[in-house]
Amino acid sequence: MYYSQEVIDEVLNGVDIVDVVSAHVHLQKKGAGYMGLCPFHNEKTPSFSVSSQRQTFHCFGCGVGGNAITFLMKYDNMGFQEALKQLADKAGVRLPEANYSKDAKERAQKREQLLAVNKDTATYYYRLLRSPRGSTGMKYLTGRALSPETMKKFGLGYADGRSSDLTSYLKEKGYEDSLLIEAGVCLFDEKRGLHDRFFNRVMFPIQDANSRVIGFGGRVMGDGKPKYLNTSDTPVFDKSRNLYGLNLAKRSRTGSFIICEGYMDVIAMHQAGFNQAIASLGTAFTPGQAALIRRYVKNVILSYDSDEAGVRAALRNIEILREAGLGAKVLDLRPYKDPDEFIKALGPGEFQKRIDGAENSFFYEIRMMKSSYQLEDPGERTRFQEEIAKKLMVFENPAERENYLQDICRIHMIDPAIMRQLVGSYNRVSSGSSAAAAREQQQLARQRRQRAREDRSLTRQQKASLDKQKLLLTWLTDDPGLYRQIREYISPDSFSEGICRETAIRLWQRLEDGLADYSRLASAVIASFETEEEQQAAAALLETRIPGIESPAEREKAFRELLEAVYNDSLGRLYDRSLTDAEALRQFTESRQKQQKLKQLKLHLKST
Ligand code: CTP
Ligand code: MN
Repeated sequence: MYYSQEVIDEVLNGVDIVDVVSAHVHLQKKGAGYMGLCPFHNEKTPSFSVSSQRQTFHCFGCGVGGNAITFLMKYDNMGFQEALKQLADKAGVRLPEANYSKDAKERAQKREQLLAVNKDTATYYYRLLRSPRGSTGMKYLTGRALSPETMKKFGLGYADGRSSDLTSYLKEKGYEDSLLIEAGVCLFDEKRGLHDRFFNRVMFPIQDANSRVIGFGGRVMGDGKPKYLNTSDTPVFDKSRNLYGLNLAKRSRTGSFIICEGYMDVIAMHQAGFNQAIASLGTAFTPGQAALIRRYVKNVILSYDSDEAGVRAALRNIEILREAGLGAKVLDLRPYKDPDEFIKALGPGEFQKRIDGAENSFFYEIRMMKSSYQLEDPGERTRFQEEIAKKLMVFENPAERENYLQDICRIHMIDPAIMRQLVGSYNRVSSGSSAAAAREQQQLARQRRQRAREDRSLTRQQKASLDKQKLLLTWLTDDPGLYRQIREYISPDSFSEGICRETAIRLWQRLEDGLADYSRLASAVIASFETEEEQQAAAALLETRIPGIESPAEREKAFRELLEAVYNDSLGRLYDRSLTDAEALRQFTESRQKQQKLKQLKLHLKST
């Protein structure tokens, strides 16, 4: 069976070597990578390292090393195909099978041939740039302040004015006409026959993440049109799934990529030491590209031109990045147009400062949105605030949402209490929150637990208060429909620190996520605790007996009283905090209003 490099790459991209190795070797995080005891020789101190960034392993003791495939081959004594198969299963990649292999094999071979044409073409342009015939191109690139090393690093080349030199060169190598046309490096017409597609341009070979040349961009050396001419899509050149500079940026160690608009921007940034720079290929940024980025980093800094089109692109791409689970910030390069011009004018030091000061993408979105409202007008101001509230719904983690809410309200001088109400009024139906958010919450929860343990001695009054909280929690798991009716008044903060608040946090999270099936709510909340001890405590708490009252009116009354009691108790805790007078007064007023509203709140309890 024949597997193309592409299939192999696809498999390797779909697994994480850290997972693969961890299944057999105990690894510990060390700096940028992981360390463990080498399984291939005897040792007492770890010298076996695994790099998730590079997706490789290496033993400093015995010298073995390789990727996920070679690891399995060595560790399990497998053949290449067997190891590949195992990883393909893990990655969910379907390997081409024997019975339709002819077709697949042909396609794979075609790709290999196209890549070979590209490689030879890139070599041709590269050499031409450095030959006497390339002096115009060399002058242009030097004039744009590129050093010889930079030109080499990006494999820059030159296509001069003669229209069939490359064609002759490639034909001499034995390539078929049709292949050269398919690769996009040659064109055919009646008058000229087969001839070069690019001429009189400096050439930017476009490489995929594995440094294979998949296409070209050529720039005129002046004001001609089009400014850039790019290879059209071919079987090896999919603009929506590749990024310029990724082959280099993937080795950068900054933990985030800078995405910009142009080839020259990427190159200028790399030359200035910012080797985390990448660009989309003269087309809109796509979800496929976001997924590609996520294999390497968690965060992205957007650097688009400071014109209207740049702002629009940034706003659209923030959305795409968010969907992909990537964090985003936005660079402000004003008064310059793009990174190339900025660095040329102010240098790398100033550029680094702009990176450090990059704006959180959420703040950026709101700031951009703001300019389209006439805020002196109360109606428009309201619309603006409503838009913010809607946007805040993207944060699934309540703590995160609240943090953004507070900051945004401070920046734009909005009363946070009002914003909270607005947010609360948007019903959100969403599926589960992110695992990372949940982990973060659990860590916070652990800290709270610790503090709670430090204060075990409870007064009778406190005990009575706890009993009510437990009853309220049980009641909610029993009748989740109540949640939306009460969440304006009661939050996890309304519960005492310790098991009550812990349970409330988990319960709120699930209710907020709007699960379709509430029948397992209590068990899901219990299962979300880590230790058996906590699980038992939560289970006991959620079995508090709900008073068996038949009459709906009396049940409603009982629930309302419970609600009021828990709310009023929580106010006591609220006032303990050190607030400024103004804040305290505002909270007092707000809570008074809520107390009044609670008395009149119309509750809909499920029928028993
Ligand atoms: N682009 C393109 N075709 C064009 C113009 C632009 O493919 N006719 C793409 C290129 O990838 C280019 C990017 O869009 O790098 C940004 O274009 P632009 O801002 O116009 O150019 P710069 O990157 O500033 O290029 P230069 O500095 O060389 O003028
Ligand atoms: Mn430019």
